[in-house]
Amino acid sequence: MSTKAGEIKEIKVGMLGCGVVGSSVARLLSEDSGDFAERVGATLKLVQVAVRNVSAKRDSVSSSILTGDPQKVVADPSIDIVIEVMGGIEPARTLLMTAINNGKSIITANKALLAQHGAELFDAARKNGVDLFYEASVGGAIPILRPLRESLVGDHVNRIMGIVNGTTNYILTKMDEEGSDFASVLKEAQALGYAEADPTADVEGHDAAAKAAILAGLAFHSRVTIDDVKCEGITGITSRDIQVAHDIAHVIKLLAIAEKTDTDAISVRVHPTLVPRHHPLAAVRNAFNAIFVEAESAGDLMFYGRGAGGAPTASAILGDLIAVARNKVRGGIGVGESDYAALPIATVGAVKTRYLIRLDVADKPGVLATVAQLFASHDVSIETVRQSGRGDSAELIVMTHEASEASLSATVDALSKSSVVKSVESVLRVVGNAS
Ligand code: HSE
Repeated sequence: MSTKAGEIKEIKVGMLGCGVVGSSVARLLSEDSGDFAERVGATLKLVQVAVRNVSAKRDSVSSSILTGDPQKVVADPSIDIVIEVMGGIEPARTLLMTAINNGKSIITANKALLAQHGAELFDAARKNGVDLFYEASVGGAIPILRPLRESLVGDHVNRIMGIVNGTTNYILTKMDEEGSDFASVLKEAQALGYAEADPTADVEGHDAAAKAAILAGLAFHSRVTIDDVKCEGITGITSRDIQVAHDIAHVIKLLAIAEKTDTDAISVRVHPTLVPRHHPLAAVRNAFNAIFVEAESAGDLMFYGRGAGGAPTASAILGDLIAVARNKVRGGIGVGESDYAALPIATVGAVKTRYLIRLDVADKPGVLATVAQLFASHDVSIETVRQSGRGDSAELIVMTHEASEASLSATVDALSKSSVVKSVESVLRVVGNAS
């Protein structure tokens, strides 16, 4: 039954977790309560917050609403909306399923959970007629999910390329601008609090892969999980790779790429990528995020901002909270998941891109011809070759035209077995057209 206008005076909110993001949500909810009440047409009241340590003092939350038992929040019949900022798969998954089945709308920042178990949560939300909003799960403060779901719903998205992990963008920016190597920049980033003590999820690309799956699902109206994302992190990037990219007017960025292939399948991948210096994504420095969207009618769009942090992430959560609260006041729910297209996931080998391959070879007659022949015999067309001599060795830097991942990996395999190649030093993908 829909609610009559003016019937709801107060909307009760529960929160799971109260770390950096949760504290900012609680603080802003209390500081801006007057404005929010005007914007919603009802008061928003935080009534219960589940935390691990109830006795730890928190400036933004009164101890009277803290509980050590998250079940209380999801079971409390008076709570209308649950905000989840605890992260991780369990117990978040079970708690949110319980909350949804108890008729509560959900706002979550949990990219890992959505990228793994989104389908189950969306199905439950649809069945129970509640909202499940998750703007904060990708790109922190950056409005990108609502633009994809609403503003661009009258268009066709062809490709999304995102810098969606601040830690790795910070590391790659420092490597590019200071010439430092990966290990020393990572150490510095950890000391400054930009990188976690265990940086695996960031530097191996897993965090970006979860976000890539969420973006791809929304852009292409299909269900995409983290298992569909081909993922490679930045731990193998050397200062020589950065320097070579620099010499040819490119920067290396960890990109989350989601695109439709020629056969209308979805390719989703995360990998270090050479981006031309003139591309807008190349200008995204330090821990900033940006999502570049290529749409059929709109053309190119870029969304830029802070991808993490307490207040920036809270901004996205509060935007969702107000949207869900307005739905409650007016009666009904907002736009839910759109998966009607159900596009298949492209096979990895079929995906085409340009490549930059760096080889350590013997510097003697016939080497270049042999290397070129290996590319040709695997149907990979060379765009440019640069050689620099180094004593008995030479470094060959080969830029290819677009080639399939399958052809390229067969070429690399043949190169590494060839007697003229001492080692395949690196294989990097390149975006942008040949200039
Ligand atoms: N760890 C992420 C980053 C933020 O470095 O951008 C949360 O997704």
